[in-house]
Amino acid sequence: MPSGGGSREDMYCAHVVGARPNFMKAAPVMRALAQRPGVRQILVHTGQHYDQNMSDVFFRELQIPDPDFNLAVGSGTHAAQTGQIMMRFEPVLEEARPDLVLVYGDVNSTIAAALVCSKMGVAVGHVEAGLRSFDRRMPEEINRVLTDQIAGLLFTPSRDGDQNLLREGIPAERIHFVGNVMIDTLVRLLPQAAASLTRELPARYALVTLHRPSNVDDASALQGILATLAEISRDLPIIFPVHPRTRQKIAQLQFEPSANLQIWEPQSYLQFLGLQQRATVVITDSGGIQEETTFLGVPCLTLRESTERPVTVTLGTNLVLAHDLGRLRQEVSAILQGRRKQGSIPPLWDGKAAERIAGVICGVSDRQTAVGLK
Ligand code: UD1
Repeated sequence: MPSGGGSREDMYCAHVVGARPNFMKAAPVMRALAQRPGVRQILVHTGQHYDQNMSDVFFRELQIPDPDFNLAVGSGTHAAQTGQIMMRFEPVLEEARPDLVLVYGDVNSTIAAALVCSKMGVAVGHVEAGLRSFDRRMPEEINRVLTDQIAGLLFTPSRDGDQNLLREGIPAERIHFVGNVMIDTLVRLLPQAAASLTRELPARYALVTLHRPSNVDDASALQGILATLAEISRDLPIIFPVHPRTRQKIAQLQFEPSANLQIWEPQSYLQFLGLQQRATVVITDSGGIQEETTFLGVPCLTLRESTERPVTVTLGTNLVLAHDLGRLRQEVSAILQGRRKQGSIPPLWDGKAAERIAGVICGVSDRQTAVGLK
């Protein structure tokens, strides 16, 4: 693999992003590839997320260039959304004909784009490959497994990812342990995060995010979580920026926020990072937030049955509580009494993962094997 610069041949790379958690992963990879001579890049936004505060603000803060194509698919059922992305991406791919398409994470845009590439014989690289919750009821798990089967280049954030892929029969030479690209963005922007907090914050608070169907789609499950959060908020103020999907569900319940349990709009990347950094504890069902809190050394309580990011538990500050709300109360009390899980930062979560990805991509280009990876 060459260490400095790309090949004499042009490498033409298209990035496909669609949903909020994709943006902080694609940003550093685009920056790293932009440093390499001979690499041409385009960006395709599927429009899976489209609100100002779910998409545009991330492009601004992360300094991502405007998309070359916006497929504007919007919301829909899983089938409708995935199908629309495929239908609208196909002519774009036909027109652009890149050497390599990079897809990110585990959202519907990821699998939809990968499928189109596979049918058109265009090579796919999957950034954040190999993560497994082993829970096929999660739509993201299906998206991960299938995308990894299609991709010719698999970039893993942790060694468990390599093991999962090998077990699923992926040839070792396709797997590249590069570290965590989302942490690249965090490392770059952390110095700006605190300054972006404009509202006054309590000295101690819990930061909450919830949007998984298993927590918010079932009214009684959501009601139970909100009642527990209300209890916790008597001892520890809660800041709860709500995802649009959660907002719709909360609106259907008789729930009154209070001064100690504040419901906020979705926050920008920098604001949310600042909020995480200063939080006493984070309570979440997100994937990426489990990783960010591990890096920041902030305790994280995850309201899910399983995690596809086990290093955040084995090495980091994360505890997976399933839907045990009694345990949630206990763990918050323990943290308030100073008993909190200590953690360390997983290997290669060092801000340089995207640089490694660029090295691999340009190395592949040098060896002119990209076509063989289709
Ligand atoms: C998607 C991802 C999930 C990721 C999450 C992060 C899939 C299968 N799921 O879930 O893995 O953790 O993004 O945010 O891809 N909505 C808006 N404005 C928007 C976007 C969505 O109002 O900009 C509302 C719509 O009512 C929509 C709902 O939120 O129906 C859900 O959006 P969708 O993209 O379908 O899934 P997420 O729950 O966001």
